[in-house]
Amino acid sequence: MKKTAPIGIFDSGVGGSSIWKEIHQLLPNENTIYLADSANAPYGNRSEAEIVALSIKNTEVLISMGCKLIVVACNTATTNAIDILRTNYNIPIIGIEPAIKPAALQTRSKSIGILATKGTLSSTLFHKTSEAFTKDISVIEIVGEGLVPLIEKGALGSKELQKLLEKYTAPMLAAKIDYLVLGCSHYPYLIPQLQKMLPETVTIIDSGEAVARQTRLMLENIALLSEEKELPELQFYTNAEIDTLTFLLKEFEGKIHIQKKEF
Ligand code: DGL
Repeated sequence: MKKTAPIGIFDSGVGGSSIWKEIHQLLPNENTIYLADSANAPYGNRSEAEIVALSIKNTEVLISMGCKLIVVACNTATTNAIDILRTNYNIPIIGIEPAIKPAALQTRSKSIGILATKGTLSSTLFHKTSEAFTKDISVIEIVGEGLVPLIEKGALGSKELQKLLEKYTAPMLAAKIDYLVLGCSHYPYLIPQLQKMLPETVTIIDSGEAVARQTRLMLENIALLSEEKELPELQFYTNAEIDTLTFLLKEFEGKIHIQKKEF
């Protein structure tokens, strides 16, 4: 495998682009291919078998495109399918999980909130991690029903989104949380809106930066970190319309290629 081979990244839709941004910031010389499976979003309410099948499909597309490593930029796909992906394929695979551990270690109020999909919160992997780190802490788990479809539509800042966020954070605020864990890669796009609504005592955390660091570490370990000095090729493929990805990635206009593709 060549060091210049791309890093492959997939998500159920546009949300994982928040993780792509962290990876690109830390590893600006790396070529990347991002797959947004928006035609099948949201994954969050699907069965484990469906999430596994979709994750296998996306992984195989990225392998066929010559990727050297795969980042599953979706908490729902990671918590339901990563073990199977790692068993089936030799390629290194990095996943994303809700950042419960740092929140649990840093909370002073001993109460933390987690917003994630039904698929993530009901997974065995999530339960294992949560049980390991939150024994003496109260964890308010809320399913962010309806948030992903609105983000997929690009309806950031909408009244509908605001109403849902107020509903989902109310029980957390009543339980006096001081950490809000965003356990879905779509949700970092909600941070500006959440920050306006939440008291300053609540710290919002997500796992994007940790995933980028993990990606760099893995590439170092397998000696596949790119040494290229040329501008990287940054490709995005979606199986739905390109509008929302274009909007969410507007600061990279001219540097990235976004295309529609069936997969
Ligand atoms: N972005 C995904 C996650 O991190 C999944 C959202 C969905 O498709 O329901 O969980």
